[in-house]
Amino acid sequence: MGESSSRLEEKKINILVVEDSETQNVWLRQILEKNGYQVSATYNGKEALAVIAENEPALIISDILMPVMDGYEFCKIVKMDRNLKDIPVILLTLLDNPKDIIKGLECGADYFMTKPCDEKNLLARVQHILKSFRDREPEESLAAVEVFHGGQKYNISLGSQQIIDNLLFAYEIAIQRNRDLRKAQEDLRAFTEHLEEKVKEEMAAFVAESTERKRVDEELQFNLEKLQRTFQETVHALASASEKRDPHTAGHQQRVAELACGIAKNMGLHADQIEGIRVAGLLHDIGKVSIPAEILNRPGTLADIEFSIIKNHPQHGFDILKTIEFPWPIAQIVIQHHERLDGSGYPLGLLGDRILLDARIVAVADVVDAMISHRPYRPACDLDVVLAELNDNRGVLYDLEVVDACLKLFENKNSRCA
Ligand SMILES: [Fe+2]
Repeated sequence: MGESSSRLEEKKINILVVEDSETQNVWLRQILEKNGYQVSATYNGKEALAVIAENEPALIISDILMPVMDGYEFCKIVKMDRNLKDIPVILLTLLDNPKDIIKGLECGADYFMTKPCDEKNLLARVQHILKSFRDREPEESLAAVEVFHGGQKYNISLGSQQIIDNLLFAYEIAIQRNRDLRKAQEDLRAFTEHLEEKVKEEMAAFVAESTERKRVDEELQFNLEKLQRTFQETVHALASASEKRDPHTAGHQQRVAELACGIAKNMGLHADQIEGIRVAGLLHDIGKVSIPAEILNRPGTLADIEFSIIKNHPQHGFDILKTIEFPWPIAQIVIQHHERLDGSGYPLGLLGDRILLDARIVAVADVVDAMISHRPYRPACDLDVVLAELNDNRGVLYDLEVVDACLKLFENKNSRCA
């Protein structure tokens, strides 16, 4: 028989569709009708039984999970009915679990198809089943099969064609699973490759960023060191500018700075505060740039008026430095370096701890260096005289702890900054 005449016969064939999903129901109906079959569409087993009573179909395609009456129960009723049992039943389901299939076979289902299935496979399966049933020997004996699955025994009766078809179905599912697994494996490999690429890109970006950050850090460090050098050079230039007016005190500010640092270290002060004291020591007499050179350089005892002019140098120093943003109170230390604890100092006559500790340290260092240095109006004092001055005025003119730290320096013969 030719294919065209075979299709003409199939056009008259009635297929019963039992499917609760509206989408699936419509899809099945459209595919089958488009290919020449007559379709009765129902939505559960109970509706399907009513339709069969009116018009017996050549093939039943039924879903399993449905309301009112599911596919298993519907199939069982059909297969137990002597008049209906020869109608082939395909269970169309999402399930491909062996237990569900065994349950379907127990209910007498002839074939299974998993959802979603494509149009080509559906039509091929329908044509094959219709042909198999048409060609089947009447009263073909069924083989009773005992199936053990999951520790449970199932009794199933199957015809030879049915066994072959179901084996084929199992084989198709295995192939599909294998195909899915291979696809998943390929996706995973592609994803891994993509991931490796991304990791390489991220690593490269990270390395580039780290290199750039290191370069910026080094540049910042270089600029910071350069700035610190410029600052030191500026401070020294300022200090030497003031000493140029008074050659007799050359090196005085440098020595005061070193001695003050030694005292501060002995007192256990923080390194940053010591650095501030060093800068203040270097600049403490900067106000002398405003004092006439003839007064600064004149030998002999100063007249009161001259001395009062000289006494203005802390204020001049403050005025010069007050607008400079040092990280330490340099202008305040400079204006206070001739203040004394008992209020007898100048220019403000401050008392006790109203005088900054840093200024009390510079004051002692200044007195010591001035006494041991030669001046136009007097010779340099012996160290004994200097020590006596400190001891006599310890806690009176000069800070007690500062004097002790200074005396300790002389004891250790180490008055230099590290
Ligand atoms: Fe001074």
